[in-house]
Order: sequence, then structure tokens, then C-alpha cells
Amino acid sequence: MVSKKIAVFASGSGSNFEAIAKALQDGKIQNAEISLLVTDKEGVFALDRAKKFGIESKTFVLKNFEDKVAYEKAILEALAEKEIDFIVLAGYMKLIGETLLSEYEGRMINIHPSVLPAFKGKDAIAMALDYGVRYTGVTVHWVDSGMDTGQIIDQDVVRVEKDDTYETLAEKIHKVEHVLYPRVINEVVNKNAE
Ligand code: GRF
Repeated sequence: MVSKKIAVFASGSGSNFEAIAKALQDGKIQNAEISLLVTDKEGVFALDRAKKFGIESKTFVLKNFEDKVAYEKAILEALAEKEIDFIVLAGYMKLIGETLLSEYEGRMINIHPSVLPAFKGKDAIAMALDYGVRYTGVTVHWVDSGMDTGQIIDQDVVRVEKDDTYETLAEKIHKVEHVLYPRVINEVVNKNAE
């Protein structure tokens, strides 16, 4: 079967990027490869992780472009060069604009650290903790023009204990993310390949 070419987009640590790269190595995601890591910041740890896996990366800093359209057009060019089939957002902290969406809608997914539709947007883990919910979790969804509003593909829950801090809860959530995201990517990529 033809291998699907994935671009992962990240803005920071890239622990999800690494979990996906590892799952590909271990054969837990089949018929796919990460052909490119895209970041919107220089010097982020995700770039070091890409190096470790021998995966090419490219950084696009919005302020170096005339506007968001030009920024996304430059990203699109890089994706076209690599013949990218599928975009996986993994901690990419920018809203996707029309330029990228018009080309990749239906071929772009995101992971969010809450059980959507609860706690959309930035700082979902802190919001859940502040609110005092006893369960929060993780959602993988299709990307549309809204903030964390696309159709849900799968979710998993995480229990919030009374003594959880931001750090302990974030750690539990990341652990769940690192299992859920590779599993969903494998399903979605192979469904599209049928
Ligand atoms: C994850 O919690 C993800 O759900 C959110 O951003 C975080 C990225 O973490 N969208 P990492 O960079 O993959 O470690």
C-alpha cells in the first residue's frame, strides 16, 4: 500500500510529535511516514526531537510574512514540495486560516487536552483544574475554521484527583494523548487509504 505522507505541526515541546514518530517506528501506525515537521517558532524542543528521528523540519515565523495568508501560502508550498497528504496538529498554537484549510480540510486533525466541547482554547488543563471537574481528558478532532470546534473523532477521559496539581494533571493527560493520538492517526490514515 502507498505510504501516506504526514506533516506534523507543533509550537513547543513536541512530546506528541515524538509519540507519533515512535509509533511509526514500532509499526503501530501503518502505511504512513512523517515527511515534515512544521513549527511556528525557532528553537523549540520539537525541532530537537525531529533531528533525533532524522525527520526534516521547517520553521515559519508569522511576523516574517506580510500577513497570515502569505505565511500559510509559504507553508503550503513546503507541503506541496513534500507531497504531504495529511496534516497532524500536535500543539500548534495558531488558528488554521482559510489558505491552509481550503487545501487540507478533511485531511487535517488536531489533539486537544480536554473532553470537548468543554474547555476550548488555550490552557484547557488549567481551566479544568480551576473549574473543579472530576474528569477531564483528551479529544482528537477534524480541523475546521473554529477554535477546537471540528467534528470529534475520538476521546478519552482522565480522572482529576483532589490533590492533582497542574503538573500532575498535565502529565496524566499527556500520557493518554501519546496513546490515543497514534491510534487515531493509524485509523484515519488507513481509512482514507481504502
Ligand atoms: C498537548 O497537550 C496538546 O493536546 C495541545 O498542546 C499540547 C502539546 O504538547 N494541543 P506537546 O508539544 O506535544 O508536548
